[in-house]
Amino acid sequence: VERTLSIIKPDATKRNLTGKINAKFEDAGLRIIAQKRIHLSKAQAGVFYAVHSERPFYDELCEFMASEPVVVQVLEGEGAIAKNREVMGATNPADAAPGTIRAEFAESVGENSVHGSDAPETAAVEIAYFFSGLELVG
Ligand code: GTP
Ligand code: MG
Repeated sequence: VERTLSIIKPDATKRNLTGKINAKFEDAGLRIIAQKRIHLSKAQAGVFYAVHSERPFYDELCEFMASEPVVVQVLEGEGAIAKNREVMGATNPADAAPGTIRAEFAESVGENSVHGSDAPETAAVEIAYFFSGLELVG
């Protein structure tokens, strides 16, 4: 059974959407096996999103991720990585399918409410960035 790293981003925590977003995950059969609310520093956000460091929006992205608390969580289930990305919807809410988290809640391509790992390798690295093995209660 697969695990993926999810982040409920500042635009969503600020608007009290944590519960509604978690309901979408649970309704899709994803189990929340670890979860905590943290306030990232800009430097910590920068390390997390280092893969995007050459992109023009990198600085804006890191500022945004450090602007308010986030909820980091580990979701578990059959095909959790793909299933989570399906529930999230397309990066740009304008392209996101109806009923997805981003279609319902995201404010823009940058402030798009959630993050989800995109492959098993990145999921493993991203989970280890935020959680110790003992914190994963599957
Ligand atoms: P994540 O799950 O957050 O990784 O989203 P994603 O995989 O759907 O998108 P991607 O990895 O390509 O981009 C990472 C994040 O950078 C996005 O979720 C957005 O928050 C942000 N981002 C992507 N494109 C833009 C953009 O054109 N402008 C701004 N401001 N932010 C962007
Ligand atoms: Mg991504």
